Parts: sequence; C-alpha cells; structure tokens
Amino acid sequence: MSDTTATVKYRKDYAPTDFRIDQVHLDFFLEDEYALVTAELNFSRRTDSNATKLFLDGEDLELQEIYIDGMALSAEQYLLSDEGLQLLDVAESFVLKTVVKIQPQLNTSLSGLYKSGSMFCTQCESLGFRRITYYLDRPDVMTTFKVSLSADKEKFPVLLSNGNLMDSGDTADGRHYSEWHDPHPKPSYLFALVAGDLGVLRDTFTTCSGKLVSLYVYSEHENADKLAYAMQSLIESMKWDEEVYGFEYDLEIYNIVAVGDFNMGAMENKSLNVFNTAYVLSSPETATDSDYEGIEGVIGHEYFHNYTGNRITCRDWFQLTLKEGLTVFRDQQFSADMGDAALKRIDDVNVLRSVQFREDMGPMAHPIRPDSYVAMDNFYTSTVYNKGAEVIRMMHTLVGADGFRSGSDLYFERYDGQAVSCDDFRLSIADANNRDFSQFELWYSQAGTPKISLSSSYDADAQRFVLSCEQSCQPTPGQDEKLPFHIPLLTALFDKDGNELAGERVLELCEQRQDFVFENITTEPVVSALRKFSAPVTLDFEQSDSDLQVLMSYDSDTFNRWEAGQRFATRAIFDLMTSLAEGKSIAPSPKFLDSMVEIANDKQLSPGMKSYLLCLPGHAALSGQLDVIDPELLQSARKVLRTAVADRLQDKFSELYDAMSSDEAYEPSQEQIGRRRLRNVCLSYLSVASTGNGVEMCATQFADASNMTDSVSALACLANLDVPQRQTALSDFFEKWQDEDLVVDKWLSVQASSSASDTFARVVALKEHPAFDIRNPNKVRSLIRTFAANPVHFHSADGEGYRFVADCVLELDKLNPQIAARIASAFAQWHRYEPSRSLQMKQQLQRISEQDKLSPDTSEIVKLSLQA
Ligand code: BES
Ligand code: ZN
Repeated sequence: MSDTTATVKYRKDYAPTDFRIDQVHLDFFLEDEYALVTAELNFSRRTDSNATKLFLDGEDLELQEIYIDGMALSAEQYLLSDEGLQLLDVAESFVLKTVVKIQPQLNTSLSGLYKSGSMFCTQCESLGFRRITYYLDRPDVMTTFKVSLSADKEKFPVLLSNGNLMDSGDTADGRHYSEWHDPHPKPSYLFALVAGDLGVLRDTFTTCSGKLVSLYVYSEHENADKLAYAMQSLIESMKWDEEVYGFEYDLEIYNIVAVGDFNMGAMENKSLNVFNTAYVLSSPETATDSDYEGIEGVIGHEYFHNYTGNRITCRDWFQLTLKEGLTVFRDQQFSADMGDAALKRIDDVNVLRSVQFREDMGPMAHPIRPDSYVAMDNFYTSTVYNKGAEVIRMMHTLVGADGFRSGSDLYFERYDGQAVSCDDFRLSIADANNRDFSQFELWYSQAGTPKISLSSSYDADAQRFVLSCEQSCQPTPGQDEKLPFHIPLLTALFDKDGNELAGERVLELCEQRQDFVFENITTEPVVSALRKFSAPVTLDFEQSDSDLQVLMSYDSDTFNRWEAGQRFATRAIFDLMTSLAEGKSIAPSPKFLDSMVEIANDKQLSPGMKSYLLCLPGHAALSGQLDVIDPELLQSARKVLRTAVADRLQDKFSELYDAMSSDEAYEPSQEQIGRRRLRNVCLSYLSVASTGNGVEMCATQFADASNMTDSVSALACLANLDVPQRQTALSDFFEKWQDEDLVVDKWLSVQASSSASDTFARVVALKEHPAFDIRNPNKVRSLIRTFAANPVHFHSADGEGYRFVADCVLELDKLNPQIAARIASAFAQWHRYEPSRSLQMKQQLQRISEQDKLSPDTSEIVKLSLQA
C-alpha cells in the first residue's frame, strides 16, 4: 500500500459489528510449500442491526472455495479486495465456509502463519489472523474455537492449538492430526497453532481448588536442556496470581513454545503461549542474570494475561493499555516479590525515563490510550506499556493494596468474558473504593510528561513547613493545552541527620498549584519527594548538594536514595559539560566523588544496592534532560566523571572485586545476582582507570568465567577498549559459541554498542557476517537496533551511522515492516540534536519517506517524525 492511501483509524469511530460469530471451526492442512485453511463460521445478526452485507478482513489469502449454508457462492455474491471479502447479501444467521491457500514459508513479516526454522507457528496480535483466514478480525468479536490440524507425522510430530486436546491419530500417507477445543470465548488475536519436531519439558501444577494442570514447555530438540527455569517461572507465576489476585488457572493444559524467529518478546495466546527463545532458554553458561530476570518477568507477564487480557479483553485496539499497562504492572509486582523490590523499581523507572519520556518529547508522543493510528503495530509503545503501567500503579497508590484488590475483584465481577474499555477498569477501581477518578481520566487522554515544580518555606516559630507544588505539561502533537492531572506524590521529611520528621504521606496534587502543610516540624527539613517514583513526572526542585547527600545516605525509601545519587551525578556531569563546551578543563565535583567513596565503603548496603548506587546515569537518561543534545560532548563529560570515580576508588574497587568473587555453583538468586553485579561494576570501572591492571583483569575474568554473566561483562569492557586483548576475546567468544544463537546475539550487540573507534566499520562488516541474518528479528535487534542506540557512533558527525541505519530500514521494510518501523523510530528525536546532526537525521527520514511502496508501518513513523 502506498503511503497516500494508508488510512487513519480513529477511536471515536468505534461501533460494534452487525454480526456475531457464535462458533468457529478451523481446519489446517499443512504442507511444506503451502497450507490449506478451511474455516466454518457461524454468523448471526445482532438484534439492533438489519445489515445484509458483511465485510470480512483478509490479507494475502488465495480463496479456493466459498459456501454459505453448504451452497457454493457464485461470483456475483461476493467481492474480493486486498483488504478482504465482502458478502453482498446474507441472511440473519448462516454458516460461511471458506477454503483459502496460504504460503507460510514465504511469510517474512512473521505475522499470521509462518515458518521459524522447520516449525510452523502463528502470531495473530494485533491484525495477523486476517492473514490466515477471512474473519471479523477485531478484539470485540469473541467466540469459541474448534481447531483441527494435520501434517506429516515424521516432520511435525507435535501439533498444538488452543484449549484442550480432544482427539488425535494417524491418517493415510504418513500424516497425523490433532483436534483442539477451547471452551473460553476469545478474540481472533489469541488464536495460535504450532506444528514441529520439538523437545519438551513436562510438569504439573495443582491449583488452589485442587485442579491438576499439565504444563509443557517446548523448544527445538537441541535446546530442550534449557527449559527448566522457564518452567519454574511458570509455576511461580501461577502460584503468585492465586495468592495476590485470587486468579486460578482455567484449563487443564498450559503450553509454552519457544521459537527463534519472533517479532516481539512473547505472546499470550490462550493456553498456547508462543515465546521468543530469548525469554525461554537458559543455562548458566549461556544466559546472563538479566536473561534469567527477563525470563521470569515475561513468563509471568504472558501468564498474567490469562485474566487481564484473555478473559477480559480490549473492546478495540485503542484500549490496548487496558491489558498491557495492567499486565506490565502485574509482572512488575511479581518480579518485585520474587527478587529485590527496590532494585526492580529502579530498573523499571530507568526504562520509563530513557524510553517513554523520550517518546513524550518527540513527534510520536501519544496518550496511553491513543486517539488514532495508521499501523496498529506501531502503537505497542513504551507509552502504552510502561506509562500505562505507571498509571495503574498510581491508582494502586491512591487506593492502597487492599483497595486495589477490591477494585480488581469488582472488575472481574462486572466484565469477565467481555471486551471492555479503559474506562471500565478505572471506574471499577474507583467504585470499589468510593473514589472519584474523573480527573484521573486525563492520564488516559492527555499525552506528555507533566513537570512538577516544588518550592518550600519553613516557619521556625510556628514549626510549620509548607511544600508548594505547581504542575505543568508541555504541548504534544494535537494537544496544545493541558488540564491539570491528578497526581499522587509520596512524600516524607527528614532532618539533616536523617531522622524522620514527617512519615510518608500521599499528597494528592489535583490543582495546577497547591500547598501542602506539615505541622510540628521542629527543624528545617530535607524533603524526600516522589518517593518510589509515585508518578510518571519530572521534578523541578532545587535541592542543595548537602540535602542530596542526606537523602543519599539516609532516606528510608531505597528508590529515593538512589535517585538522590543520580541527581547528584547528573549535576556533576552537566557542570563538566558546560566547562568542556567553554574549552575549560575543571576537576569533577569533589563532593560527588566523596559521596561515591562513602557508598563504596558503606558496610550496611547490600552488594546489589551498592552496585546501583555506584553506577552513573546512562546516556539516554541524561540526554532526556537536555534541551539540545550534543552526543559527543555529553559522552566526554560522562567519561571524565567515570574515569575520576575509577581513579579515586581504584583500590577499593579491587578490594570489592575480590570480596565479591565466589566459587559457589551458579544460581540466579537475588543474593548471587547482587554480588556478581557489584563485582562487574567494579571491573568496568577498573577497566577505565588511568592506571592499574584493569585490562588484564578483564582478560582473566573472560578466560576463567564459569557463567555467561561474568563472561559477557568482561567481554563488554574489552570491546570498548582499543587493546589487543579485545580481538582475542571477541574471536574466542565467537569460536566457542557460534552454534548458540542467543549467545551470538550477545556477541553482535556487545560490538554494536561499543564505544571503540572502529565500531562503525565493524558493524558494517558484521551485517555481512554469516552469523547475521536480516530475516531474524533477534539478529536485527542485536546488531542494527543496538547500533542505532549507540550514543556515539550512530551519531557520528559525518552522518555515516545515520545513512547506514536508513539503508537497513529500507532493506527491512520489504521483508518485515514491523521491525523496519521500530528501527526507523531511532530518527524520531532528530529535532533534539545540535543543528548539524539534526539536519542529517532529517535528511535520512526524507530519503526513507521518498521510497516507493513503503509499508504503512514505516511510512507512519517517518511521516509523523518529519512533522516535528
Ligand atoms: N501481547 C504482547 C505481544 C505482542 C505485542 C504481540 C505486539 C503482537 C504485537 C505480549 O503480551 C507482550 O506484551 N509482550 C512483551 C513483553 C512483556 C514482558 C512486556 C513483548 O513482547 O515485548
Ligand atoms: Zn502483554
């Protein structure tokens, strides 16, 4: 479709369908070169409609046969187009039977039915089902599915679909079949099918009411020894959802299948989750601590969708955050309960700030419940997901954990089995708690990151402290004026020695300006505001270095301890930037360096927490706070501070490095993860210290590592350095792991994110390396997307990085528009860079936009970006 004909869909245009689908029977006949899909759909007209025409979505389908109530249709009875099939005269109720031919082996978009290696699999969210058969492909059409599938028995011994297995057996000529029935009505986007020669790990789970559930995790045979942690995470998820939300699993079987070619992380298809291998496979030798955490989180996420997404789904795709924001919030809670809650919160806030805040500053800014889209797949954004989760979290903060549970219970009492809207959820939480959340709706309708300016006054005689809050929000595309949001601010007060003067309170900021009074405050306090990051906002609050030091050392909210340190570091880096820009060289803030020494020496801190406190804010978080980004300058300033910390603490880092060493067998436990992290943070500082043997330490750790966390951490340090040990390590690593796809991905991304001077040349060469495959999304993400996030080399002043990435977008667009569009969004921030880079980025966007036959996906991103 050319971009001029791409149509915009609007939320306000929602209307229910004229017809319901009461039952579906699908039959799949799978062959190497094609698949035949027979669909029998029982339609009935809604009582409030008198429509006689019916349009069904369909894309890339070859219609072979078509019948209504058993009678073949003649050519005058229907119309076929690129978008679907229109039935021209239908009765009140009827059965439509179609047979279509599709070619999964040619499907490079990985949407619909496709092949990953030798296996067949599906991805239907959001609009993939129409690439399988003609259908009302929208989430508010829910029905029960019966599915039969057949294939060659030797090549495809495993045949899976949603629901319970009803029958299976052999047929003539070496084929076999299986039949599945899913008793829970569901929308088409939750349909799934898998056929392949797979290995499996089996287990069982007994639910709270005593029902036995069979659990299966599948992968290709060669990876079947890496499924245990995924299975364990599934069992933990099932337990947790019963305990915290009272949600009991509702079928006798739960399948997870790992596939190597997948556009996203994973998909919650009813009882048949399809997962990117990256979120299933693990072993200590091949997976890092953060891979383990990712597996636990994503397994949880897809499992939790069974209630928040599948049993209650979205009325239309504009409501996506109804299921995604809520389910991200639930998976965040789950991971917090399984590990270190404070560190999990820091990770989540880091993602929000470095990805979502940036989205809000650009041309793609949209509310968590968007008003329009061209390609729905472009709206699986950090705003819908991560800000969506923050919006749920604010409701949780406002009504408390018990109130939130009552609200969730009420939501299920009202809407189980239905397709509903974000309003329905918000009102359930409000009604269960007798709260008025009408102003709170603005979080759903207004885009942008609110800014809260704080100022204070202290009256020593009256022992009264007043905190004055003022909120504002920058205009975003299509929204010039914003109304004030309803913002929960968790706040506490301390004295200069860290004693609490006022315990934590939820201040509800609803007006544009509001004062909050604290009585009986005996001394001028230090304010700990926005504790736990209680709202997705930026704070404008001038606090002195010494106030920040008090919070850093004493705040009883771990998140705010860390936050104070980050603010202190940011201040130090921006000061360095200013002097570098003026050609002056000044020493980094001594006070900041002292505070790092204090942290390093602190004996109370857990190793995990210490490692977080010792890390400087990343490039993305820093550039989000700048009006004009000069990536080179920012990088230089950050490097000066990093080197200063490394030099100042060199001995301490060596000592901690040794103290954190261990010969225990690998476990992804909170304790071990914290120790490894601290050790690797020390190593990374030592690798940039001006003197000492940091480079040899990296080489030694790399050679001796018994787990992937330590191995790839050392490799990443070396990859940043222009030293001979770098090439040796990179070659050895590839040599050793070339047959492990997910490890090769790490090898690619370590090089693509490197700050070393030859990174661009390497990335260009790697794109031609036999290990790279542009059809595989994990490879594209590891090399191209990682490079497009490289703060230095993507933004190289001569524009070679920009040209290369734009070329990749154009190449990818022909194969996989969803992935191409995601890469293209690397240019969306062009207007925030200094003029020369800004212009070059814009030129690449223009070049992409001029390509003919650009997909609607990429075209939407590029067009919106150019409007900035
Ligand atoms: N439903 C999504 C997967 C999806 C997204 C399918 C977009 C089709 C288009 C799934 O529940 C999901 O959100 N997955 C995330 C991981 C999750 C932990 C946030 C993903 O795939 O990135
Ligand atoms: Zn999800």
